[in-house]
Amino acid sequence: MNNYDSLQHVRGESQFIDDLIVPENTLFASVFYSPSAHGIIKSIYLSQARNLEGVKGIFTSSDIPGQNQIGGIVQDEELLAADKVMFAGQPVAIIAASDQRTAVKARNKIQIEIDELPVITGAREAYNKGELIIPPRIFSCGNIETAWDKCDVIVEGEAESGAQEHIYLETQGALAIPAEGGGIKVYSSTQAPTAVQRTVARVLNLPMHKVEVDVLRLGGGFGGKEDQANSWAALAALAASRLNEPVKLILSRQEDMLMTGKRHPYSSDFKIGLTNDGKIIAYEVTFYQNAGASADLSPAILDRTLFHTTNSYYIPNVKATGLCCRTNLPPNTAFRGFGGPQAMFVLESAIYKAAEKMGIEPIEIQKINLLSEGDEFPYSQRAINCHARSCWENLDKKYNYAGIQKRIAAYNLENTISKKGFAIMPVCFGISFTNTFMNQASALVHIYSDGSVGISTGAVEMGQGVNEKIRQVASTILSINSDRIKIESSNTTRAANTSPTAASSAADLNGKAVELACRDLIERLKKTSSEILNVKEHNLVEIKEEHVFYKNIKTGIGWDELINKAFLKRVSLSSQAHYSTPGIYFDKDKSKGKAFSYYSYGTAVIEITLDCMLGKYEIDSVKIMHDFGKSLVPAVDRRQAESALIQGIGWMTIEEILFSKKGQLMTNALSTYKVPDIQFTPKEIEVNFLENSYNPMGIFNSKAIGEPPLMYGIGVYFALTNAMKSFRPDKQFSFSAPLTPEKILLSLYSNIKEPAIP
Ligand code: MTE
Ligand code: HPA
Ligand code: MOS
Repeated sequence: MNNYDSLQHVRGESQFIDDLIVPENTLFASVFYSPSAHGIIKSIYLSQARNLEGVKGIFTSSDIPGQNQIGGIVQDEELLAADKVMFAGQPVAIIAASDQRTAVKARNKIQIEIDELPVITGAREAYNKGELIIPPRIFSCGNIETAWDKCDVIVEGEAESGAQEHIYLETQGALAIPAEGGGIKVYSSTQAPTAVQRTVARVLNLPMHKVEVDVLRLGGGFGGKEDQANSWAALAALAASRLNEPVKLILSRQEDMLMTGKRHPYSSDFKIGLTNDGKIIAYEVTFYQNAGASADLSPAILDRTLFHTTNSYYIPNVKATGLCCRTNLPPNTAFRGFGGPQAMFVLESAIYKAAEKMGIEPIEIQKINLLSEGDEFPYSQRAINCHARSCWENLDKKYNYAGIQKRIAAYNLENTISKKGFAIMPVCFGISFTNTFMNQASALVHIYSDGSVGISTGAVEMGQGVNEKIRQVASTILSINSDRIKIESSNTTRAANTSPTAASSAADLNGKAVELACRDLIERLKKTSSEILNVKEHNLVEIKEEHVFYKNIKTGIGWDELINKAFLKRVSLSSQAHYSTPGIYFDKDKSKGKAFSYYSYGTAVIEITLDCMLGKYEIDSVKIMHDFGKSLVPAVDRRQAESALIQGIGWMTIEEILFSKKGQLMTNALSTYKVPDIQFTPKEIEVNFLENSYNPMGIFNSKAIGEPPLMYGIGVYFALTNAMKSFRPDKQFSFSAPLTPEKILLSLYSNIKEPAIP
């Protein structure tokens, strides 16, 4: 099955914000941002910029008619810095001009005087200075205090994982067009149309019904547009409403990298206790989350870190503490995995270190601690329909772990400089927004009188294929060819109060709403059919293959005729439906509950080759057994798995973000920030679909796929350490991702210190 947009994409016909045909008088905007990471604004000099020909308006915090506040979870984020700046790159003013060049030129003429304050860049430093955004969050089970006595081996350590840039192909942007009666229409590149609507309404002091937000598609979001599309839409809307002219604001790549948040870097302390046979008895961990200058989604992301503390393993005694630390970096935000990957990296580090101490392979510890059916997570939900072990075992059966290890050992014996490494990475990821109320969606389905269908939901297409999945749902229930179905843009007037397209749940939530709406339409059409056929038993009427069937026999009435007759009979051909995930709840005070609708499982086996002279490496293969449930669109799911894997590998290996001690982003372009390219991609990727898996909680028995495979990338880190270990068996390596070639080289030879950051 072709993906919904493939043909348009390859022809370059698909439209993104910057491609939209704009009204003639549209103005172009540029954002002036703080050059300093922390300080008090003494004065801003705007007159030089204002006097530039073509500049139509410059707006600062004092021009905001509503609230200068865009915080979602915590009210701690100004749209435009008023008195104080909290990070370098923080918006201070927006300039609107007749063309883009003039807007940028004017921006460069603005001067700002700032009284500098001390800058905090690290999470631990922030914690030590009392900079916590929310009180510590704790998840625990069993009895951690007494559990240590039952352990034969106890290992402690630290693990660090770095930030990650989203590098969506389409940078952040919005087009705002004033509407009659003081309203505004905003085209936004956002995963969360309702969040943009709410933010614009708040900033402009308008009721939400006066703000219409429309999203055709995104050139990628990856979490970076779950919350952080709001600012650019609100800024464009502010300028547009002040000037009563359309305003377009598109960030350049460098501006986007400078001004927006990234995946949260974490620094963590772990302590793990095991019996001599490798059973994990106790695990204590403290996560220092580098939230950046304001909360953004950090508390929710920290929650997911805590939910995934034990990944795919059963551990009876756990204490996990999450610390949301305020630093002077751009507010960090959602990124594929939403805090889960950070937790899993720490536990794998702990397992690796314990194995080292016990003189066994990590795989031995991994295997015996895998989740079994009915095992309880620290927050008391149980693993039901658990596929942790079946994925592990099926992968082993197919590729033979012991055989791979043997082959690698032989290679490493023969080669002194080139070493091969191996790791296995199991993943268990909970599906549902951890904020229970967000697990709802609605759909509006119109059948037009010519038999064509238009569907509106809150789901945002960002390359992940949700439109194709929704089309499949409608095509199946309505029994019509999928080319009769159009998926409309996500628009707040057609789908209200929507959750962001996030948490890998868009196809489940919106798909189920579409299913309900289509079933409703089919019921009506069956009734109409029985009237047309003049039969009483409307339950013997079926609509299949674009035809009406009666008692299993195809009648002469086709879809077009049926719809036309229904229309003439004044039957409603539109249906709206709402879906909310049943059975989930979570008690935030106790940190217990059934937070997830279900879990996604899988295992990856990874082989790498490391050049121990140069620190360079190649990823030979990644082989995966993944539980897709009953895949709705296998081609889309396979592509999601492969792309998430590569994104996860990038995070763990070569994507390195560096800030100076003064909070300046040093890796602010694609020349200094390296993302995986075709050369770097594993030579071999094999994604296997676990057989005979069904998931009644997912749409048509499928499972969510957007985020879980990212975490297989963590295995590449440990495959690299594995190879390093065979080169330097005497050395203990620290756990610090990304494991760049540079870092490998430095740690292989020595006690050479890393170069100091200026
Ligand atoms: N795939 C593409 N091509 N582009 C994206 O931006 N975002 C990921 C994932 N896959 C993304 C993607 C993230 S972070 C999430 S949460 C899911 O898609 C969201 O979409 P879904 O709920 O439809 O899976
Ligand atoms: N995942 C992604 N986005 C979210 C979540 C989540 O669990 N909760 C709130 N926003
Ligand atoms: Mo995805 S990080 O939930 O947008």
